[in-house]
Amino acid sequence: MSDTPPPIIDIQGLRTAFGKNVVHDNLSLQVRRGEILTIVGGSGTGKTVLLRQILGLGRPAAGQIRVFGQSVVDGRRAEVHALRQRWGMLFQGGALFSALTVFDNIAFPLRELRTLPPELINDVVSTRLSWVGLTPEDGLKMPSDLSGGMVKRVALARALALDPELVFLDEPTAGLDPTRSDEFVELIRRLHQQIGFTVVMVTHDLDTLFALSDRVAVLAEKRVIICAPPAEVLEFQHPFITTFFLGERGRRALDGAQEFAGKSHDGKP
Ligand SMILES: Nc1ncnc2c1ncn2[C@@H]1O[C@H](COP(=O)(O)OP(=O)(O)O)[C@@H](O)[C@H]1O
Ligand SMILES: [Mg+2]
Repeated sequence: MSDTPPPIIDIQGLRTAFGKNVVHDNLSLQVRRGEILTIVGGSGTGKTVLLRQILGLGRPAAGQIRVFGQSVVDGRRAEVHALRQRWGMLFQGGALFSALTVFDNIAFPLRELRTLPPELINDVVSTRLSWVGLTPEDGLKMPSDLSGGMVKRVALARALALDPELVFLDEPTAGLDPTRSDEFVELIRRLHQQIGFTVVMVTHDLDTLFALSDRVAVLAEKRVIICAPPAEVLEFQHPFITTFFLGERGRRALDGAQEFAGKSHDGKP
């Protein structure tokens, strides 16, 4: 077992409470480098709070969270800040700056570094636009001119601006119609294969979940009750899993995913 690489995210014994409301209790989760890990759970089970904790934006009552081997709980402020250049976040709904052009939205994390010359910023933004299937002309548009699918693409381009090793996606396909949703899933899959970043995603959408996830972490009873490949999670006996996955929609999504998997989801760890 000594050659097992260390996890890129390591959460041990996490406890999160808001007053008397205990959201996480003795929660543990490890994310492996290069995988796509999906977090699911009922509404209010603490998925968003967990993402915020991993990003160092909330203080747990107990436990440890290490990202890239470094504590985001009791690490030095400057060190935690430096970690932010190694991850990218796609917020639910895109969260673009409405007063900035597409170009300036994508350039934002690059300009924040205050070290890159404008020519380099231009090059990086152009590359990111092409990564997500947008043109230089799209860079001139304002967020209000964009369709829902384009907003997600721009948000993804911005999340990838600093070429992060780790990407967080909060409900990446929420609000998209099925065709746009499939296209966005395909885009994430292709970029993940080409660039090799690690993905931690929250989604309610079973098509997205089955198309992308190497493993699924189920949040229930204030902790991760199972973290395993989708097929194994489906076998796990728990009322939430039965309701969430094995309804009519879940079975259809699984059938679709297995057909898909046979075609192009090989060679993954
Ligand atoms: N800043 C906060 N202050 C107090 N309670 C909060 C705060 N953020 C989240 N909560 C509570 O934590 C629980 C989990 O919230 P959240 O992580 O948003 O759930 P979800 O799994 O739906 O994303 C909820 O009960 C919510 O009310
Ligand atoms: Mg949430």
